[in-house]
Amino acid sequence: MTRWAHVIGTGGYLPETIRTNFDLSEMVDTTDSWIYERTGIKSRRIAGEDETASSMGEIASRQAIEMAGIDVQEIDLIIVATSTPDRVYPSTACILQHRLGIQNCVGFDIQAACSGAIFALSIADQYIKSGIAKKVLVVGSEVCSRVVDWTDRATCILFGDGAGAVLLAASEQAGILSTHIHSDGGYEDLLFLPNPQVAAVAKQGEAGYIQMRGNEVFKVAVNTLGRIVDETLEANGMQQSDIDWLVPHQANTRIIAATAKKLGMDMDQVILTLETQGNTSSASVLLAFNEGVRDGRIKRGQTVLMEAFGAGFTWGSALLRY
Ligand code: ACO
Repeated sequence: MTRWAHVIGTGGYLPETIRTNFDLSEMVDTTDSWIYERTGIKSRRIAGEDETASSMGEIASRQAIEMAGIDVQEIDLIIVATSTPDRVYPSTACILQHRLGIQNCVGFDIQAACSGAIFALSIADQYIKSGIAKKVLVVGSEVCSRVVDWTDRATCILFGDGAGAVLLAASEQAGILSTHIHSDGGYEDLLFLPNPQVAAVAKQGEAGYIQMRGNEVFKVAVNTLGRIVDETLEANGMQQSDIDWLVPHQANTRIIAATAKKLGMDMDQVILTLETQGNTSSASVLLAFNEGVRDGRIKRGQTVLMEAFGAGFTWGSALLRY
């Protein structure tokens, strides 16, 4: 009997405040049309002063738990993917565990920048398949707005805040078919977020804001995501036409369109949230998945390909049967 990591619940949370491209054009030298044409983004959400990765993650998690109809005490593992944790320690997963009132489970964070949710799903899948865990809560939650330099037009236009969650349970019903994760630390200088306290010693004056050579990142992302599609299909003996939905990391519509083309897919088979959410880093794939599930586009039994690319560089995919 195969033991699958089957999806039993999803959730998502977006902060109330909307920051449009027009708002940004009053803050930096940019225009709505430049941003929309280059990225596909029109607006993004900005977390309130009191909101954190754990507070947003809690709301998304509670939605997933409610959809699954389980008791929270049944959860035996929480994995939070974030690059903007509440604190360096305790982990955001520990804070979330307490917020959810779960006594007997283990929680830890993983950090793989924008690929975080895929990495977390990969770990969750191994824990379930090996029999160590029965119910795993995977959360991606980010307050990117706190690590964006709002005077840098090259980066501040891209990012937004939010949280997504998925609850996986050990089941005889199909679930995650395979995950594929990779990293290459040779690209550190193209995209990084300094840790200001440590950087103050290592490199004087390095501010705690995202720094990116966008154009170079773009080219590597397109090529790499093309390769991960091939790798995933080949590992599962599948063809392009076997995939019902593409749920990509939401960084740039042009990158997403290139991946869809590689899969021979129309854009209406792609779950897109970028226009109103921007790049929410490790939250983005889970937010998009939640949207597709809740609005009824992604149906039980369908095959979903999730993929992401981020700083590191890190990249990966998760193929699942919903
Ligand atoms: N408004 C107007 N002009 C701008 C803006 C702006 N907001 N930003 C940059 N420009 C200018 C540049 O100064 C440059 O001007 P120049 O030609 O006079 O020098 C020109 O526009 C072109 O700049 P490029 O950086 O070459 O623009 P590009 O078409 O590459 O678009 C973008 C930039 C949107 C950032 C794109 O490169 C991109 O999406 N990159 C990938 C981002 C990504 O996927 N990141 C990975 C995930 S994030 C993570 O892991 C945290």
